[in-house]
Amino acid sequence: MFSERVREDVDLKWLEPHHAWELYRLVDVNRDHLNPWLPFVDGTCSPKDTEDFIRGAIRGLSEGREAHFGIWAHGKLAGVTGANTINQQNQTAVIGYWLGKDVEGRGIITAAVSRLLDDLVQERGLHRIEARCAAGNNRSRRVMERLGMRHEGTLKQGDLLADGRWDDCLVYGILASEWKDQK
Ligand SMILES: CC(C)(COP(=O)(O)OP(=O)(O)OC[C@H]1O[C@@H](n2cnc3c(N)ncnc32)[C@H](O)[C@@H]1OP(=O)(O)O)[C@@H](O)C(=O)NCCC(=O)NCCS
Repeated sequence: MFSERVREDVDLKWLEPHHAWELYRLVDVNRDHLNPWLPFVDGTCSPKDTEDFIRGAIRGLSEGREAHFGIWAHGKLAGVTGANTINQQNQTAVIGYWLGKDVEGRGIITAAVSRLLDDLVQERGLHRIEARCAAGNNRSRRVMERLGMRHEGTLKQGDLLADGRWDDCLVYGILASEWKDQK
């Protein structure tokens, strides 16, 4: 079990198949919290679905297309962050993140995504990192802004929310040089 400490109470680990049950439970108890913003939640109906996600993520990692970390807070699985898409040709990545409701508001995601950005920029040598969120997702917007990502544009009604409403999709980005400069 290899892990990286990103803050005294926060560790990142690669997700592995034996985490499937614990990760499924975390999604399951947080459905109401996650579902408004994350399309994968409704399709996660059993630990097998979560195991399939993890196996797909490991394949994506081995092919350089994805990189997902589990986030442990005080030794307990608390959320996930990762690059859902790594485009080696363009040297770009699109990242995502989520946390269980009971650990919100402690800076855990900011610390975890900061380490993810280090990995993508410094270890993988990517040039540009992007993140997207629905305009109504104020907490997610604040995470990106705390990390120094800039709002670059808006895709009008680019997100179909779980309740059937359309929301604008905000595109945030940061260049590797900008990330290194602010560290
Ligand atoms: C988006 C989401 C990950 C943000 O979580 P979060 O807890 O707000 O973010 P952080 O872990 O960075 O915590 C930041 C908060 O902790 C506070 N905080 C406390 N200690 C801190 C520290 N050491 N460093 C930074 N912030 C700290 C900050 O002031 C901030 O509070 P505020 O939002 O009231 O201003 C979470 O709300 C979530 O999972 N939502 C549902 C899924 C989702 O929307 N995912 C993103 C899809 S685009």
